[in-house]
Amino acid sequence: MRDKKKLLSLMCFLLVAGLLGFVVIGSPDQSSRPVEVPFGKYAPKQPIDYSHKLHAGDLQIECQFCHTYARRSRSAGIPAVEQCMACHTMISPDKEPIAKIVKAYDEKEPIEWVKVHDIPDYVYFSHKRHVNAGFECQECHGPVEKMEVLYREAPMTMGWCVNCHQDNRDKGAQLDCWTCHK
Ligand code: HEC
Ligand code: HEC
Ligand code: HEC
Ligand code: HEC
Ligand code: HEC
Repeated sequence: MRDKKKLLSLMCFLLVAGLLGFVVIGSPDQSSRPVEVPFGKYAPKQPIDYSHKLHAGDLQIECQFCHTYARRSRSAGIPAVEQCMACHTMISPDKEPIAKIVKAYDEKEPIEWVKVHDIPDYVYFSHKRHVNAGFECQECHGPVEKMEVLYREAPMTMGWCVNCHQDNRDKGAQLDCWTCHK
């Protein structure tokens, strides 16, 4: 048991050291420039200034490391505080705004992230089929790995869904009303 714990913290240390090395050595190139929230796009203020550009872009953490359910269920899922603590028990736990995460974790309080996307309940949408059909997250969510503040890229209206289904009928996308309105 003790050994297992030791091994785990060693692995964490190596992961963290590797990541920090990447941040320090990695040269800033064109592709790592942040994108601003385009005029008129919805980008609610979040309880913690969390950056996708830093985590998914610079640190190259896989989208599905945090949004674990995208391949398996309707929802992609928002990560629990525990997932943040996998790194932040060691990485800058005392630095604001990370200290807020540590506090939430210690007090067993969830972080109340504000929803960016919310299609009406009478519409059926599932991540599973779309992700398994080979679409990248960016196809529908835009250049998330460059977003300092996450915003809603696509309108997510009926026209938007139907247009893509029209263009992808060869991949099995359907246009019947009851495909999306069950
Ligand atoms: C280290 C964890 C982490 C990684 C990696 C990550 N995300 Fe997130 N994601 C979050 C958190 C936390 C939120 C909620 C806060 C926010 O909206 O900024 C979120 C929110 C989102 C949302 C908006 C959800 C809503 O409310 O509608 C989308 C879309 C999203 N992420 C897509 C992605 C994509 C695409 C990638 C990979 C390029 C990615 N995320 C990588 C943690 C992560
Ligand atoms: C075909 C378009 C499409 C693709 C591809 C897609 N999404 Fe989404 N995503 C949506 C839509 C539509 C919603 C809003 C769903 C709702 O409100 O019920 C959404 C909502 C979300 C949310 C917030 C609600 C939830 O489901 O937890 C997250 C997080 C998210 N997406 C992450 C991802 C990630 C990560 C990927 C890639 C692995 C991805 N999405 C791929 C269309 C897509
Ligand atoms: C794989 C490791 C890893 C995971 C998992 C991770 N982070 Fe981070 N995070 C980092 C690193 C590395 C930094 C940069 C540390 C620094 O600047 O001192 C950082 C920095 C931050 C910052 C400070 C940004 C700034 O502007 O100073 C916040 C806030 C943050 N993370 C929130 C989160 C949240 C919320 C989660 C969970 C959804 C999360 N992190 C998960 C590695 C991670
Ligand atoms: C990027 C293109 C694209 C967009 C955008 C898109 N779809 Fe799809 N959708 C597809 C494809 C391709 C399939 C067929 C996948 C398969 O059969 O494996 C599909 C299948 C489906 C299915 C049937 C499979 C299932 O999950 O039950 C539903 C329902 C669906 N889409 C709803 C929606 C809704 C609602 C939206 C808008 C919020 C939307 N789609 C946006 C490409 C798209
Ligand atoms: C590919 C998915 C998809 C298909 C196919 C689809 N819809 Fe929709 N529908 C949506 C989405 C998403 C919304 C919610 C749009 C919004 O919130 O702006 C919607 C909304 C609606 C609304 C409410 C509109 C409003 O203004 O409130 C009606 C009515 C409707 N659909 C009827 C239909 C009919 C009839 C068909 C067949 C001809 C159909 N839909 C096919 C995805 C779809």
